[in-house]
Order: sequence, then C-alpha cells, then structure tokens
Amino acid sequence: MKKNKIVDLDLVVPIKDIKIFLGKYNGFQRYDVYKHPFSKVIEKSMRQAFWTPEEISMIADRENFKNLPDHIKEVFINNLLFQTFMDSVQNRGLDSVMSELVTSSEWESVFKSQAYFELIHSLSYSHIIREMFSSNATEIFDRIYDIPMIKNRTDKEIEAYSVIKKYINNEITFSDDEIKKKILTLLIHIFFLEGLKFYISFMVTYMINNAYQDAIPGVTKIIKLINFDEDMHVAVVGGLINILRRDESEGFTHLFKSTWFQEECYKIVEEIVIDEVKWGDYLLSFGPIPSLTREVFEVFMKHYANDRLERIGLEHLYKNVERIDIIDWFNTYKDINKDNTAQQEATALNYNIGSMDMDYEDKDLEKLLKRLFKRES
Ligand SMILES: [Fe+2]
Ligand SMILES: [Fe+2]
Repeated sequence: MKKNKIVDLDLVVPIKDIKIFLGKYNGFQRYDVYKHPFSKVIEKSMRQAFWTPEEISMIADRENFKNLPDHIKEVFINNLLFQTFMDSVQNRGLDSVMSELVTSSEWESVFKSQAYFELIHSLSYSHIIREMFSSNATEIFDRIYDIPMIKNRTDKEIEAYSVIKKYINNEITFSDDEIKKKILTLLIHIFFLEGLKFYISFMVTYMINNAYQDAIPGVTKIIKLINFDEDMHVAVVGGLINILRRDESEGFTHLFKSTWFQEECYKIVEEIVIDEVKWGDYLLSFGPIPSLTREVFEVFMKHYANDRLERIGLEHLYKNVERIDIIDWFNTYKDINKDNTAQQEATALNYNIGSMDMDYEDKDLEKLLKRLFKRES
C-alpha cells in the first residue's frame, strides 16, 4: 500500500468514502467533517493534557534516593529501563506504523498526538535518570543490554507492528481478511500494552514512594502523569476497537461476530498476565517490596485484565477475582487530581499543568466514552 507521494491531490477522496483502515487517503489533513466525533474529542483531550517533565523537580528525589535500601534502588532502575523500552516501542510504532497505516486524517491526528505523548514519556525517564544519577546516567542506560528479563518482554508487540510495517512497505501481501485480522491483532496488543503491561511497574513506584516516607515525590508525580496518559490511551484504542465492532462501513464487524476476536484477546491477555506476574517476581527477587507479594500482583493483574476486557465488550476471563484493598489504594493513589490539590497546599513545588483537572470543554467526552465502553457505572 506504499504511496509514491506523501500528499497527493490528484487522488480525489469523497468524504463519504473515508475509512479508518484500508481505504483511500490522499494525505490532505482536513478537519471539517468528522466521521467519528470520538476521534475529535479524544485527540483534543490528549493535547489539552500536555505536560513536560522538566517542570517537575527531582531535587528531593536525588537526596532521598541515596538512603533507600540497595535492592529498592535496583528495582527502581529496572522499572525505569523497562518503561523506557516500552515507550520507545509505542512512540515508534504509533508514529511510523500506525500513523502510516490509517487512511483517515482524523485518526492520523489521534495516533500522531498519542505518539508524541509516548515520546514525552521516554524523555521523562531520561529526565529522571539524568537528574538522579547525574555522573553515571549513561552507565545506567547501557545496563539495558544485559537484562534479558527486559529485552524480550515486548517481542509480541514489536512483531505485531513489524508485520504491518512490512505490509505498508509492500514487502508482504495478505488477503483482505488476513490483513484485517493483523490490524485487529495489533490494536489488541496496543490496547493491553497500554492498559495492563505497565501496571506492576506503576504500582511498584507508588508503593516505594508510599513505604519510604514520600522519598521520591518527583518521580511519583511523573509516573502519575504517565499513568493518566495511559488511561487516556486505553480510552483511545478501546474506543477505536468498539467503533470497528459497530460500524459496518469500516469493514471489520464480521470479525467480531466470529469467535476469533474473543479468542485472540483472551490469548493475549493470558500471556500478559503471566508475563507481568513474572516481572513482579523478578523485581521481588532483588528483595522485599513493602506490601507487595506475588499473590498481590496476581490478583491485581487479573482484576485489571477483567476490567480491560469488559471495556471492549468481552466477558471476564478470570472468575471470582477477590477485590483486595490494594486495588482501591492504587486507584486513589494514582489520581493526579487529588494529588494536585494536596501538593499545592503542602509545597510550593513548581507544578503547572492546567489541563490536568479533566476540565474538558467538550462535555460530550464522558457521554461518548460511556457509550463506547458501555460502562454500567
Ligand atoms: Fe507511554
Ligand atoms: Fe500509551
């Protein structure tokens, strides 16, 4: 499907013929009519939540970090390296594959904005590492080559992106249904990567900060901002999957009617849950992390796996998952809005992220999201 020109006005595409995938796109970025108003609202919402890592001070973190137990320092470094790796995959995948694949200007804008936030996440980890390990930041980053537990953790996602990249470059061809399945598989991977695969790492950072008297407030704030973005990305990709499920004109609905979609989701979710719990085990192998055990990780992951499945219209995969307190704790702790008010009262920390209060101008977002996700609550 590789095009010769990046923008080609010789190709006339009537508005009514626009499709998200596998349609015709001449590259003319016009935003007069939206086929899916969801894309307009969610793209704007992402952009309004803009933030930048340098706003957040690492001074306290740098001081306090020295006094943390050695094994906690190791856990912390491993987590940051893994997250840098994941955001590298996401930025490059969304930017060079997904944005190329879509055949509608509105979804191109969604994925390009999302990709930019993934880049901010990568820049944030470097901000943290440079500020906290000023003399040996390079040595810290170079360690990634020697950690097998990290190196192969996103093989499946990289593979799903790479297949599509080959298709875009005309290096490989597929039948109509095959390519549609490959696209859906990639979307499923992205959806669960954003909504599940970061979760033990987020939890561990929050727990370290909580257990060691707010030792790493700057890092925690950055992770909360990233967590907020990822929640939004879950909404982006979940919303897109649900549009493809419902909108006949997009040409994907038949794949949702067969058992293929559900089986593909369950397979991917099961792998991620097992893999994340393994990652938790690996982090615990350095030494104990307060309040966290393998059992806690497992219940925590299964709870979120069920929640994510529900958002794309599927039954829970894990039955009778106990509702442990730590899930509510996590949900409260990650909430940047609550934190923001408390922080402003407690310290004069430079913190100026005006749009983080979810003050969407477009009041329809909640309604749209509810409709798209068919949430009961
Ligand atoms: Fe990210
Ligand atoms: Fe993301």
